[in-house]
Amino acid sequence: MKRGSSLIVEDVRKSFGHGADEHRVIDGLSLRVDPGEFVCIVGPSGAGKTTLLRCLSGLTRPTSGTIRYGDQPLTRPLADIAVVFQDYRGSLMPWLRVRDNVAFPLEGMGVKRAERRKRADECLAAVGLPDVGDKYPWQLSGGMQQRVAIARGLAYEAPVLLMDEPFGSVDAQSRFDLEDLTLSLRRKLGITVIVVTHDIDEAVYLGDRVIVLGGRPTTVIDNLTIDLGTERDQIDTRADPRFADLRTRVLTQIRNPHPSPPHRTAKKPASTPRGPESVVSRP
Ligand SMILES: Nc1ncnc2c1ncn2[C@@H]1O[C@H](COP(=O)(O)OP(=O)(O)OP(=O)(O)O)[C@@H](O)[C@H]1O
Ligand SMILES: [Mg+2]
Repeated sequence: MKRGSSLIVEDVRKSFGHGADEHRVIDGLSLRVDPGEFVCIVGPSGAGKTTLLRCLSGLTRPTSGTIRYGDQPLTRPLADIAVVFQDYRGSLMPWLRVRDNVAFPLEGMGVKRAERRKRADECLAAVGLPDVGDKYPWQLSGGMQQRVAIARGLAYEAPVLLMDEPFGSVDAQSRFDLEDLTLSLRRKLGITVIVVTHDIDEAVYLGDRVIVLGGRPTTVIDNLTIDLGTERDQIDTRADPRFADLRTRVLTQIRNPHPSPPHRTAKKPASTPRGPESVVSRP
């Protein structure tokens, strides 16, 4: 796997509409994600997480500010950056077999048919679905369809994988399995992963860093290093007192935001949580 470049966001603003109808969603947002990092972005519903991810994928241009991939301005989708979208049901094509769904983006990249098929089968095996290539998406469970969407993201062999609420619509057990699958793929492939989620526990469990979005318009209100090591375990990591401290810190920031300088590590929060209920924290 090719090593990617850093994603660098500088003073980005994004508005929809014009004049009196202008709705500024994001303002003054800066962040940087280096090759091989696993970064989670959390924030309340409507904060602009999907909008930010679309900007990071090159699908949407910011209204002002710059996004660079290494030293290259990011002004269009790049082969180096793969995206798994928020709703897999809207992104898998029901008339195509699973293998063809996974291979579909490769056709546009000029990859030959036999190689497309081979790569699709390898990616399906990597997400634990070696035997479903000939089925249609609607013959699979929700969790399996989500794995297919991840396999399709992997098929690009892109060094950067962006995922928008990737496990939002699956049951709790599948969600834990998919979290661990993503961690192991990242370890195995050395890719950069950016996951947008509104689940604080998931963000702390997965990330080397958690970037907290908040405010109106949205900006970065915290940038937290998750010093829990690279080996995570659904039971032990979540039972670690440092895990509880980190999730409390993130939750406090979301409910009672105070803009903070980049890259602080966790401290016990002193304030009473208050604010949007749209952010969930699993017990
Ligand atoms: N294409 C668009 N045109 C107009 N407004 C938009 C567009 N896309 C997003 N918005 C607005 O931008 C805001 C942020 O939307 P976005 O989907 O980025 O939020 P989000 O943080 O991903 O929310 P959720 O957690 O519910 O997925 C919302 O107010 C939304 O209505
Ligand atoms: Mg969204």
